[in-house]
Amino acid sequence: MNEKIFELKDVRFAYLGKYPALCGVDISVEKGQRIALVGANGSGKSTLLHLLDGLIFPDSGSVKAFGAELSEGALADAQFNYDFRRRVGLVFQNPDVQLFCPTVKEEVMFGPLNFGSGYEKAAKDFDAIMKVFGIEDLAGRMPHQLSIGEKRKVSMAAVLISNPDVLLLDEPTAGLDPRTSRGLVDLLNKYHREGKTVITATHDMHIIEEIADIVYVFNHDKHIVRAAPPAELLADTGFLQDNNLIHIHSHRHDGKPHVHPHGHPSHDHTH
Ligand SMILES: Nc1ncnc2c1ncn2[C@@H]1O[C@H](COP(=O)(O)OP(=O)(O)OP(=O)(O)O)[C@@H](O)[C@H]1O
Ligand SMILES: [Mg+2]
Repeated sequence: MNEKIFELKDVRFAYLGKYPALCGVDISVEKGQRIALVGANGSGKSTLLHLLDGLIFPDSGSVKAFGAELSEGALADAQFNYDFRRRVGLVFQNPDVQLFCPTVKEEVMFGPLNFGSGYEKAAKDFDAIMKVFGIEDLAGRMPHQLSIGEKRKVSMAAVLISNPDVLLLDEPTAGLDPRTSRGLVDLLNKYHREGKTVITATHDMHIIEEIADIVYVFNHDKHIVRAAPPAELLADTGFLQDNNLIHIHSHRHDGKPHVHPHGHPSHDHTH
């Protein structure tokens, strides 16, 4: 059996003890698996990613990472903390939460320098990752003065430069132009081929077939209502509509308004 990366049992979490965000979540993730988290706004996807990154801890239930309890106490241990942070990288949904350095170069090099890479290796990795995202010209800029898409590329580069085994991505394609979005999907597939584990929260239903082996669907009760391979899920239009994963789309055909469910679930753009 493959190495277990995460194992969650009946995890419950409420912000400030009164705003429920996860209500009984069970998830098991094996090494090399690609997981997509989908569901309506406020259904708990980001909260789950923060929990998997050891930023928040459950009110009840258990979270295991690499076979060990992922608790505040465990992360207080310097060695455990270093190993965990080295292996797991989270790209935040909102880049402004993540970006904090005065320049893009410092931002992107912060991880490797912090993990003890020498400056020379960090600088080499920096050049390579900036090229991957085509953002070499942003090196001297202030992260907060960039466009949203540019910020997203910088925050992605800042995590991917350290080459973590486990990638947690929160809406990585939101606000990206089509070419960048395509490039990101290709990049995730390259990471998959290298044996990395990739967990992606997304509203972008037309990429889930390419980025996930299994999709967890969250509902309004902050609960996982279904775990299924993407193709099976995308074929179930009624379920997609009920769970706010596709919408009714109205456009014109031969000059007449025409309404149908929309989410490009089957990559069928002919209608
Ligand atoms: N900092 C916070 N304080 C209080 N409640 C919060 C906080 N962050 C999130 N919540 C609540 O927790 C629930 C889950 O939020 P979460 O951000 O995990 O949803 P999400 O599925 O990522 O949504 P989206 O698709 O909008 O990103 C929501 O009801 C939200 O209002
Ligand atoms: Mg979110």
